[in-house]
Amino acid sequence: MAYIQTDVLYTREYRDDAINMGKAESFPYYPATAFGATAFEEIKTAYRQGYTYIRTNNPDRDVLAGLMTRLEAPELEAASTVLSSGMAAITATAAALLQSGDHILSNRCLYGETIELFDFLFGKFGVETTYVDMADLDAVRAAVRPNTKMIYTEICANPTIDLVDLPELVKISKEAGALLVVDNTFCSPLSIRPLEWGADIVINSLTKFLSGHSDILLGCVTARPELVEKIYEFSLFMGSPADPFPAFQMIRALESAPMRIERQMSNAAKLAAYFETDPRIVKVNHPSVNSFRQRDLAKKLWKDDEKITGMMSVEFCTEDDAKIDAFMKQLKYVHYAPTLGGMRTTMSHPVTSSHNTTPDDVRRAMGITPALMRISVGIEDIDDLIEDFRQAMSELE
Ligand SMILES: Cc1ncc(COP(=O)(O)O)c(C=O)c1O
Repeated sequence: MAYIQTDVLYTREYRDDAINMGKAESFPYYPATAFGATAFEEIKTAYRQGYTYIRTNNPDRDVLAGLMTRLEAPELEAASTVLSSGMAAITATAAALLQSGDHILSNRCLYGETIELFDFLFGKFGVETTYVDMADLDAVRAAVRPNTKMIYTEICANPTIDLVDLPELVKISKEAGALLVVDNTFCSPLSIRPLEWGADIVINSLTKFLSGHSDILLGCVTARPELVEKIYEFSLFMGSPADPFPAFQMIRALESAPMRIERQMSNAAKLAAYFETDPRIVKVNHPSVNSFRQRDLAKKLWKDDEKITGMMSVEFCTEDDAKIDAFMKQLKYVHYAPTLGGMRTTMSHPVTSSHNTTPDDVRRAMGITPALMRISVGIEDIDDLIEDFRQAMSELE
């Protein structure tokens, strides 16, 4: 028998030959930074098809990547790689597939940090980005350059919920010889699968709807296996493969994601229908309502109004800070939070948060006024949710 310190390091007694060892009801958490081996042959085999070092590969990340591929591309030849955040997924994608002298053609309305990433990080390394309003397809065609290697957009824009005509963008990107990259965070694969429409790469911030519990930071890229391989290789250099713990939590979160997100999307459509009837709401930005400016495009991309997105924005009848504050304080359940996709309904005020550095005239041209509030709809009982908004409306008068 060894001394106590050695003993606690090397003794591992458990039923590793138990008949049901590989059948745990939940997939185990593997925090190990490495997997050992006893002989050269075993080491060589492990490098080919086993587990070696935590940043290189990990069972929790593998299970999660497999699930994401099934969600985003069940019928296609595709793969996924799981990264430490949505931003890490966007960074690794662009870093792996672009080089100095290349051009990104991007939608004008994007998550603010994606714009900063393109301008400041990729700009520094000689990749130029130009921005167009992708609702205007002629503007997109006119902005394509001979060196355009990537066309980048979110599926619906934050916070105005502007949609993109995916099939038309696919045509433009094919003609340009550029990769079409779609950030699907606002909709998720439970709503739309951009790869099935012909996009080349889909990115999800798993931090949002797909995790749903507001306690996970992760991102994922899904694409043809050869593209994912390149992105994965780059993520290794950048040190951005996901830590196993959030990946483990995320496997659990995905088990209920379809039920949660379907409820969020259907609640959003019902809430939008209610807002349409209230005179204190002057504009409802949700693709399910008839007044939505891209309603025809919404019908082209989605068959069911209750399965589009849990995100929306509304314009109040007032820009008065004090009245909006009183309204927010009057709400019993709904509250401010600088995130989206959680199970509780949350709101954000773009003018004071995501777009606080954008000049007022530019914001207004984009449809973002001080009266605009973004809503991420949760899974509450819809009657409670509508009643919460209804009882606070008089504060806006
Ligand atoms: C549309 C969109 N894409 C990407 C991101 C970045 O994701 P993460 O915070 O997981 O890095 C966000 C974050 O809010 C987002 O809204």
